[in-house]
Amino acid sequence: MGIQVRGRLTTLRPADAGDVERLVAWHADPEVSRYWDDETFTIAEMEERLARGDVEAWIVEEHGEPIGYLQVHPDGLDMFLVPFARGGGLGPDAARAMTEHLIHERGRDRVTVDPYAWNEGAVRAWERAGFVEVSRHEADAEHTAPWILMEYRG
Ligand SMILES: CC(C)(COP(=O)(O)OP(=O)(O)OC[C@H]1O[C@@H](n2cnc3c(N)ncnc32)[C@H](O)[C@@H]1OP(=O)(O)O)[C@@H](O)C(=O)NCCC(=O)NCCS
Repeated sequence: MGIQVRGRLTTLRPADAGDVERLVAWHADPEVSRYWDDETFTIAEMEERLARGDVEAWIVEEHGEPIGYLQVHPDGLDMFLVPFARGGGLGPDAARAMTEHLIHERGRDRVTVDPYAWNEGAVRAWERAGFVEVSRHEADAEHTAPWILMEYRG
């Protein structure tokens, strides 16, 4: 067993080759892709994504069962849970655990998230995880709609 990051309700482990089919299937669900710029991926594309040098891919687990995906990029985090796992505080738990790990174990001094302004549920989830709004922005090269920069304050 490699590194794990433990929250109170969830555990995170690095995604590996054994997760490729699961991640392709998760992204193919419209209830996931609609929060992910409608992106879906083939097996080969997902293998490439998992090999990115600047983005870490993590699987969120509850009681040992995979329930979501969290990625760590140079600035911060992106995350989704599968639909049945949402609404119970598991996302904020995983996000807080990973952020504390990045700050205390990896020496990061700043962790941010960039939810779309329309995604009010996600904004509330990030607030529960300890993030606060820093600024609002228009759509740009990396965002298809207005978005909110939020930073972890613990
Ligand atoms: C954002 C997300 C990771 C938060 O994790 P979570 O464990 O659901 O977080 P919470 O339990 O705090 O719930 C957050 C909000 O999700 C919404 N929610 C609740 N149940 C839901 C469900 N079954 N399906 C979709 N959204 C739901 C609610 O608006 C809730 O906020 P509220 O209780 O204040 O109304 C998760 O809801 C998710 O995967 N959403 C879709 C993907 C997404 O938006 N990712 C973030 C992109 S920035």
